Amino acid sequence: MKILGIESSCDETAAAVIEDGQKVLSNVVVSQIDIHAEYGGVIPEIAARSHIEAVNPVIEKALKDAGETLDSIDAIAVTHTPGLVGSLMVGTLAARTLAILHDKPFYPTHHLKSHIYANWLSGYNPEFPLLAAVVSGGHTQIIYMKSHDHFDIIGSTRDDAIGECFDKVAKILGLPYPGGPNIAKLAENGNSDRYKLPIPQVDAYDFSFSGLKTAVLRAVQHELGKDISTPSTELKSLLTSQQKADFAASFQKTAVKILINKLQKALNDYPEVKSILLAGGVSANQLLREELHKAFDNQCQVFVPEFKYSTDNGAMVASAAYYSIQAGEKPSDPYALDISPRSIIC
Ligand code: KG4
Ligand code: ZN
Repeated sequence: MKILGIESSCDETAAAVIEDGQKVLSNVVVSQIDIHAEYGGVIPEIAARSHIEAVNPVIEKALKDAGETLDSIDAIAVTHTPGLVGSLMVGTLAARTLAILHDKPFYPTHHLKSHIYANWLSGYNPEFPLLAAVVSGGHTQIIYMKSHDHFDIIGSTRDDAIGECFDKVAKILGLPYPGGPNIAKLAENGNSDRYKLPIPQVDAYDFSFSGLKTAVLRAVQHELGKDISTPSTELKSLLTSQQKADFAASFQKTAVKILINKLQKALNDYPEVKSILLAGGVSANQLLREELHKAFDNQCQVFVPEFKYSTDNGAMVASAAYYSIQAGEKPSDPYALDISPRSIIC
């Protein structure tokens, strides 16, 4: 079964054709990072307009690269939640129109579920029950899955998402958007033991990342001997490049540790778990990948998506839709608009 997957929930316009949930026939991603970097973050109106320009050429290229046409594919899947309203609107409208015109089964797909299914691309087959750590710019969750299409959210962030925290700390240090990859790059030359940052005490498998961001800000102020009213624009220009690298490394180590600690706690309490997997943009983080393997390789199977499937893409959307179809999901009516900026996975 060949599925065209379309993704436009944030600042990537993406489409892919996937066969039987795992075989990637094409994967096209157009990123808007350069446009938004100028503003230090994603500007929703600009994102929506950029999606409008990119969506048709991206879909056409995905079909062409796969050697397919709209007639030869079996179904169309598209991210319909969660995400930026204007961005979701563009991808879903394109997908609905194509589904109607070409009379194809239509599958609206949850973005976080798609991130989880990035782990099934490249031929991996994680065994159930499993724990999925969803670590993206908008979400941080631990999800227990008994089987395909069984999602039990056992832990969530109470404030900022881990990716958001990387992005905010990057701003404090004066690094460009998106913060995550830039923090990781800078951290390569940093001493991760130089600044001691606190591990927040939060119940069960929940997270809190806003305190960590504030702790970095306070540590920067302390290091520079400045009081808390000093504007952060002034702070970042006073830091030496070594200090910045040390802050990046210390922060990254702490953020990774918070996640690993919570996953260990969850694994202790769910000993039947056979696999742990990472999902979402922060899964591209090299230290997180290494520490996950170090912590859990001798306890269960560990899966991380290939780098190209860590951040937003259409391949994971098609894969998620495929496994939902296998689990019995029926096609949706493409005439009914069904987008939602916020929603939990279910
Ligand atoms: O999943 P994603 O592409 O979009 C959302 O669904 O949110 O995730 C984007 C997030 C951003 O916060 C970005 O800074 C973070 O993923 N990210 C990283 C890395 N690459 C992307 N965070 C840490 N290390 C990275 N290498
Ligand atoms: Zn995402």
